[in-house]
Amino acid sequence: MNYKLLNPAQLRSPVNTLCFFSFSDDLIPYKTAAEKKSLRKILNEEGFKGKENELIKVHAGQGIATRIILGGLGKSGSFTKEKLRRVVSKVIDYLKSTKIKEAVFYVPDLIDNDQVVESLIEVIELASYSFDKYKSKPKKTEVTTITIVSSTKNKSVIDRALIFSSAAKLVRDLVSEPPSNLIPENLAQIAKDMAKKERLQIKIYNEKQIKKMGMNSFLGVSLGSNKPPRFVHITYSPAKSKKTVCFVGKGITFDSGGLSLKPNDAMQDMKMDMAGAATTIGVIQAAARLKLQVTVHAIFPTTENMPGQGAYKIGDVLRASNGKTIEVNNTDAEGRLVLADALVYASKLKPDYLIDIATLTGACVIALGLDIAGLFSNSDELAKKLIKAGKQMGEQFWRMPLEDYYFQEYMKSDVADIKNSGGRYGGSITAALFLKQFVSKGLKWCHLDIAGPGMGSRKKFYIPKGGTGIPARALIKFLENLES
Ligand code: BES
Ligand code: MN
Ligand code: ZN
Repeated sequence: MNYKLLNPAQLRSPVNTLCFFSFSDDLIPYKTAAEKKSLRKILNEEGFKGKENELIKVHAGQGIATRIILGGLGKSGSFTKEKLRRVVSKVIDYLKSTKIKEAVFYVPDLIDNDQVVESLIEVIELASYSFDKYKSKPKKTEVTTITIVSSTKNKSVIDRALIFSSAAKLVRDLVSEPPSNLIPENLAQIAKDMAKKERLQIKIYNEKQIKKMGMNSFLGVSLGSNKPPRFVHITYSPAKSKKTVCFVGKGITFDSGGLSLKPNDAMQDMKMDMAGAATTIGVIQAAARLKLQVTVHAIFPTTENMPGQGAYKIGDVLRASNGKTIEVNNTDAEGRLVLADALVYASKLKPDYLIDIATLTGACVIALGLDIAGLFSNSDELAKKLIKAGKQMGEQFWRMPLEDYYFQEYMKSDVADIKNSGGRYGGSITAALFLKQFVSKGLKWCHLDIAGPGMGSRKKFYIPKGGTGIPARALIKFLENLES
């Protein structure tokens, strides 16, 4: 998509397709009186109320535009960027159904123009996305040029919007990719290609090196697969750095459940079990492109979880790289096993903030539904920062309790230090408590369980079915907020 920024004074009417937005209590919040008058007349006839997500299309035929598309934003006093994002996604859905090639978006002067224009471009990108590389006849939007009319003079909003949205789109592509194409070696290679392009340091450890590091918890999971595991560590270290953040992502390229095999229905979406790892790749790419003054580490263990010959078994005891022993009572609780070793590794980097991202538990989806990620943290400060960034980007985190007593009650093993599954009750909490065992004391750590929002089972405004890219944009915003 091509974007052009235009000052209201430069707009020459009539244009072909004009997209407007309007509040319910202030129908046309635009300045030019003539436009206002003719539009109000049309809108009254059409019965447009300006309610949230309301959309009308009118053939004005003449005047300021041939065709007008108008989206509602609800009450002017309760405007949020998310309301704009959602109604813009409706506009894009409509444009997709037409052969329109160019559209003009007229942006009202709102609280923060730069941010509104940035969100607008970002959401046009996100809403125009589709994962169609395997379609013989992809259905693409024919819009190629978007002109944005706004008093904003800051041209960098276009670049910024494209950096945020391309990170999310990269994550979406990776999550939606079929599992036999995106095996661990390939995921590592994609990280390597990205790192080379963005001039980032990268270290990829093979099976032998993983063994040498004592990561037997991670290796245990990989035993049932004939595809070798990889451990990936990407670093972005700017000359001036205010903070160090370590992201650790779960990179299970396919989760069959292992010997604790999942039934067919539960396996449908399990190519997405590497969404956490994909998120770390997208976020560090954006950090580099935005030239943020924050040191970022993106770390992910990646393997398949398969029941093949040599698979780890129920009753096995694995010794993680910090010396802790784990009794395996469910091979489908594999995410925490691969993350355990990765958290030990990341802890050694002594970051200011350690954040893991994982499609970890079905229990979290039961608790919070498909759209909200569970947030577990030992730091109120970190939790607050992440929730704030999530709000800014329309990605929701809900803080869950790290109730230590549950660890005593559910995770103790008769033969080893701990067991890997605490059963059904409080499943997302016991999983988080398991992870906590592998984070060095004193570190500010947060675990994001994205089993729900990582992959969409239905389209929701600008979030497609399939890989969603959540929570990459929120995490980039979190990093950016650390600069100030
Ligand atoms: N990858 C799954 C979690 C998951 C479930 C993600 C549904 C997305 C949608 C994870 O590895 C898993 O299988 N967890 C088990 C844990 C249980 C065995 C303790 C689960 O949630 O059932
Ligand atoms: Mn599993
Ligand atoms: Zn899994």
